[in-house]
Amino acid sequence: MADSGDRKVAIIGSGLIGRSYAMLFASSGYQVSLYDIEIEQIDKAKDDIKSQLLKLEEEDEQYQLIQGVTDLKSCVEDAFFVLECVPERLEIKQNVWKEAEPFITRDDVILSSSTSALLPSDISRNFLRKERFIISHPTNPPFYVPLVEVVPASWTDADVVTQTLKLLESIGLVPVLVRKEVKGFVLNRIQYAILAESWRLIRDGVMTAGDLDKVMSCGLGVRYAFMGPFETAYLNAEGMHSYSERYADMILGIQQDMGPPERMDGPVLDLIQIDMEATVGPVSEIQQRRQWRDRRLAALAKLKADLNKN
Ligand code: NAI
Repeated sequence: MADSGDRKVAIIGSGLIGRSYAMLFASSGYQVSLYDIEIEQIDKAKDDIKSQLLKLEEEDEQYQLIQGVTDLKSCVEDAFFVLECVPERLEIKQNVWKEAEPFITRDDVILSSSTSALLPSDISRNFLRKERFIISHPTNPPFYVPLVEVVPASWTDADVVTQTLKLLESIGLVPVLVRKEVKGFVLNRIQYAILAESWRLIRDGVMTAGDLDKVMSCGLGVRYAFMGPFETAYLNAEGMHSYSERYADMILGIQQDMGPPERMDGPVLDLIQIDMEATVGPVSEIQQRRQWRDRRLAALAKLKADLNKN
């Protein structure tokens, strides 16, 4: 790669995720070109980014690196990384790429999408440069929750995979490679497995929803902020084989006791809603509670960064 395009990142869609990525890239000194089909969305995104950068005590310099543009051509031309963050509908994404690709000028460009669940082969099968496409699925809010799932299609070039992992790491994210296209990638499969078992436990009257949330926030989640299920197992015995000898039969017995998934609906859903209103607060005050969550996520991100320094 050469010339000034090496620093230019194009972001298509300036909603929640597009503006978060814009902030992350600008904070690492990249020039960001931010496009949206709704002109007023770009202004809103820029205002939002400005106030977020202020909160993070970042300089005006970073803000100046983000340029809002109203045409797709000037957004993507010369960019080395083009990231699509438009709504989660296959036909919207495919149409955006169809429109954008002819304006892309670099042969070594990386084309990416922040999709939560669409498969890379479904999005890119009709691309002009489908071997340059890869998914970069972030976790919300990306500024405080750094995990990003990187998902290539079977036809994605190997250098696209390595460069994307490197690039995302360079802007402070923690990329993990999803080596096969699988529905829901990994984070959501695990999240939904937890949701499925939690649902069954409420349905069967084993626990209230408020207490079940405490099992995560005051139990498992405290550990999971620093280590995953495998490291937890490894440390809870003398390595994996010793863990298996001690616990594998018991774990299998419990897993076999779990039932099939159910659609979240009906009286169990009503019960959980009532319990959430009592423990978390009414839906009318949800915005304050989101701010409460984001303050805690920010404090945790800072703690983890400080711990990693030592
Ligand atoms: P959003 O609705 O906040 O933003 C989408 C933006 O795309 C809007 O500003 C809209 O005006 C714009 N847009 C719509 N059609 C367009 C077009 N043809 N050309 C250019 N811009 C267009 O959505 P959000 O939440 O930012 O999600 C974007 C993508 O990121 C989705 O695929 C979503 O699944 C994924 N994602 C979302 C997460 C979340 O928690 N919100 C987390 C991880 C991924």
